[in-house]
Amino acid sequence: MNILILGSGGREHALAWKIKQSPKSGKIFIAPGNGGTHKVATNLDLDIKNFDKVGEAIKAHEIDMLVVGPEDPLVEGIVDHFRADKDFKKLKIIGPTAKGAMLEGSKEYAKEFMKRHNIPTADARTVTKENLEETLKYMERLDPPYVLKADGLAGGKGVIITEELEEARKSLRNLIEDRKFGQASEKVLLEQFLKGIEVSFFVITDGKDYRILPEAKDYKRIGERDTGLNTGGMGAVSPVVFADRAFKEKVNERIIRPTVQGLKKEKIDYCGFIFFGLINVGGDPYVIEYNVRMGDPETEVVLPRIKTDFLELLLAAADNNLVDTEIEYERFTASTVMYVSRGYPEFYEKGHEISVGDLKTVLPFHAGTKLQDGKLVTNGGRVIALTGLGKNLGEALSKAYAGGREINWEGKKFREDIGFDLKALGQ
Ligand code: AMP
Ligand code: GLY
Repeated sequence: MNILILGSGGREHALAWKIKQSPKSGKIFIAPGNGGTHKVATNLDLDIKNFDKVGEAIKAHEIDMLVVGPEDPLVEGIVDHFRADKDFKKLKIIGPTAKGAMLEGSKEYAKEFMKRHNIPTADARTVTKENLEETLKYMERLDPPYVLKADGLAGGKGVIITEELEEARKSLRNLIEDRKFGQASEKVLLEQFLKGIEVSFFVITDGKDYRILPEAKDYKRIGERDTGLNTGGMGAVSPVVFADRAFKEKVNERIIRPTVQGLKKEKIDYCGFIFFGLINVGGDPYVIEYNVRMGDPETEVVLPRIKTDFLELLLAAADNNLVDTEIEYERFTASTVMYVSRGYPEFYEKGHEISVGDLKTVLPFHAGTKLQDGKLVTNGGRVIALTGLGKNLGEALSKAYAGGREINWEGKKFREDIGFDLKALGQ
């Protein structure tokens, strides 16, 4: 079975690496891929937002399964595009239709979905230019911190959290009147602040059944001890100590099951991943956000912990047959450290040559790298994720950091404290 994976990050590298382990996998292609993915797949130089070009590649390479990595093409309807074309009737696709992708594409839509299905989440009100002035007044009565979220996709940068009322009001005005994120911030959610520790859950679903993948915790802030600007993610750990059996049961009963049942009730065609960004408030899980794809860098710790043939799981989902599958996890701990370019998540340089050692004790997943004249060079903010596996968190982390000493480029940066909060909880 030939597979095409869309995307170019560590997530897609990990997906290709995992799929390749299945005896059922044939040729694997990645579009566009990066400077490391050619080791597990064939890179295709394609603009993945050009669905016609993707279609041509699917025909040319006799692709049986399309796996969509990032959210943008999903929100833009790539799945609907191929479903509507009889030439692609046999193509198996991992990814929801545009309607399903709205769970990530519009935070207001996601909130309303959760309300309809009684799924615990922070209270929120939608702000537009019509009720802006009224909301700015109403905010005087709220306690800080204030949480503002652009409704649409903003590449992980659309959330503002501040203790200062005046700053919050200014940001809200700025988001709406100056359209800081274009159309994405025509609407803004003013949300209740939830105090707790975050954890991410993932499922693969065929729209009626689902299988829960290993949970993970990621580290979004650029600075040690979770300070500074938000990034795409600086590292991740799986499993997560406080996600014990009782907590997982609550997540399943209160959040995962009602979400999948809600999709089914609303006749939303959904075959793919759901990523639940949760916060644990005193032992009770609340949804902070839905994503309609796997997380990055969470995938780099979640997939190594899946013992079951991953391609079999994807196939079962695509064939509407998850009911007959089981998922088994590995017992070890996985941790990944993201090595990034100096300056990230703001301005950073590209094109620095990367030297790489043996990397025998880690799983290297490339993100912002490319091959240029036969040399590996940096090509993004997040450059390479190194995943260490160990019998406990300490061992997994020490491998991920030891691997980091074998890769070098001018301006290499990373967080030295991945997992710090879990260690404080005894993990
Ligand atoms: P998001 O882009 O929705 O994942 O939000 C980015 C980050 O903001 C999350 O990872 C949380 O750390 C934080 N956050 C978002 N919503 C809330 C909330 N209602 N209460 C507390 N923290 C939040
Ligand atoms: N690491 C967070 C995300 O993929 O959205």
